[in-house]
Formats: sequence, structure tokens, C-alpha cells
Amino acid sequence: MSNKTILLTGASSGIGREFSQFLGDLGFNLILASRNIGELKEIKSSITNKNISVHIIKLDVTDSKNINEVINYIDINYGSIDILINNAGITIENFILDMNLNDFDRIFSTNVRGPWLLANGIAKLMISKKIEGKIINISSILAENVIPKQSLYSMTKSALLQMTKSMALEWARYGINVNAISPGFVLTNMNKEFFNTENGIKMFSRWPKKRVGNPDMLLSTLNYLLDDRSKYVTGSILTVDDGQSLKRI
Ligand SMILES: NC(=O)c1ccc[n+]([C@@H]2O[C@H](COP(=O)([O-])OP(=O)(O)OC[C@H]3O[C@@H](n4cnc5c(N)ncnc54)[C@H](OP(=O)(O)O)[C@@H]3O)[C@@H](O)[C@H]2O)c1
Repeated sequence: MSNKTILLTGASSGIGREFSQFLGDLGFNLILASRNIGELKEIKSSITNKNISVHIIKLDVTDSKNINEVINYIDINYGSIDILINNAGITIENFILDMNLNDFDRIFSTNVRGPWLLANGIAKLMISKKIEGKIINISSILAENVIPKQSLYSMTKSALLQMTKSMALEWARYGINVNAISPGFVLTNMNKEFFNTENGIKMFSRWPKKRVGNPDMLLSTLNYLLDDRSKYVTGSILTVDDGQSLKRI
């Protein structure tokens, strides 16, 4: 993995935080991005592998100007990167009848428009530098399943799957592999309050293994996609959900 550089969005929390440490251990050079620079600084200092470079960068994926700045920064300072992980994401928990246009725009600009702009900008750098890179999008099992109060989230995560497949198709000729991981529920800031409620407990009690996972349960799948030996895998959606989607979620 040495000499390869990864841009990871949403690195400040939950899955992204877990990925940061793991990717550092694997020997990748890291560009860790999110809005919260304080958290990123703390993550940078906790990364134990001191033989890699770790750069932290402020990025709001809803802000197209900010995305362009980050892409320009990478162009000037790195030429390109080898891997983009589109991990930043939010949910807005509410019934459809109680949501408005602001909710719609906020979640789509975070979960779809931002990843699309980033992937597009980074792919252009990869193509111009002839780098056969990888793009990994973090979707969700809610891309293909629905539960109450998660309609917009499900819609955005479905869009991310189609984005993954379309990019894989169009960029295969450049040697860029694009895949998605669809995690089941893992405990992070996004949902930890919910899984302490009666409804949350009821929910995971229905699942085959009757438990909510942790972000580290995604690491082996991430590792697989990063490995050169998985270069025959593109346009794929890898579900990692402890069997949660086998029954009614
Ligand atoms: N937890 C689950 O059960 C689960 C299941 C399936 C999929 N996922 C997906 O996994 C990804 C990570 O979620 P998580 O569970 O780790 O949640 P989390 O702990 O809430 O982390 C979300 C991350 O996204 C970043 N983010 C949010 N809005 C952003 C913006 N506008 N610009 C830049 N970064 C932004 C946050 O950073 P800042 O606030 O610092 O910007 C944070 O680092 C998301 O795409 C989520 O949909 C999660």
C-alpha cells in the first residue's frame, strides 16, 4: 500500500474515524476531510503509523466551491490521489409529510451531489495522470429497503448505487474501479440515540443476529476493495449487514 494516497471524506466520526486508523495501519498516505477540523486533528495525532503522511483538510461536501478548492489543492500538492472514499453522509429522520424542501436539498447535497462532484473531479485527475485508481462509495442497506422516517436517506443511498454503477461503466476504460459498500446498521453518532430507545431495541431484536454492529465490522470489506487482487471487481455493491436485510428491517 505504500506510496498510495487516499482521500477519505467524513473522517471525523464513526465509520470514517475507524477507517482512518485502519488505512494508516495499512500504510496509505491519508488526506482526511470533514467540516470539523478539531476532530480531524485529534484523529491525526492518534494515528500510530508514523511512516505515512497524514494531511487534514476542511471540506463541506455541500459546498461546490469548497470541493473545487480541495481538488485544486490535491492537483497542486499531490498531482492526483489513488483512492477516493466517499463516506461523508447524514440522515434526516422524519415522516415525508413533515419534511420540506430544505431537508430535501440538504440531504441530497450531502449524500449525492457532494460525492458526485468529488468523484468527478478526482476521476479527472486520475485520468490526466494515468492513475488506475479506485473510488469507494459508502451507501447503505436502506438503498434497497425502506423503513419509516428514512425516506430521503433511502433515496440518496439508492442514487449513490446508480452513481457507482454508472461511473464504473464509463470509467472502466481508464482503469478506474468504482464500487460501493452497503453497510447495515453500525453504532455511530448517526444512530446511537435511536438504538437506546424502545423502538431501537425492538428493531435489532428482529434481526437474525439480534445485535447492532460496530464500524470495525466493515474493515475487512474495505481491505478487500483496496487490495490490488480485487481489481476484477468494479460496479459492485458489497452488502455488509450481519444479515439485517434478510428479514424486514
Ligand atoms: N452508521 C450506520 O449504521 C450506517 C449504515 C449504513 C451507511 N452509513 C453511512 O456511513 C457514512 C458514515 O456515517 P457514520 O455512521 O459514521 O455517521 P457519523 O458518525 O454521523 O459521521 C458522519 C460523517 O460525515 C461527515 N459529514 C456530514 N456532513 C458533512 C458535510 N456537509 N461535509 C463534510 N462532511 C460531512 C461528518 O463530519 P463533520 O460533521 O465533521 O463534517 C462525519 O465525519 C455515511 O455516509 C452513512 O450514511 C452508516
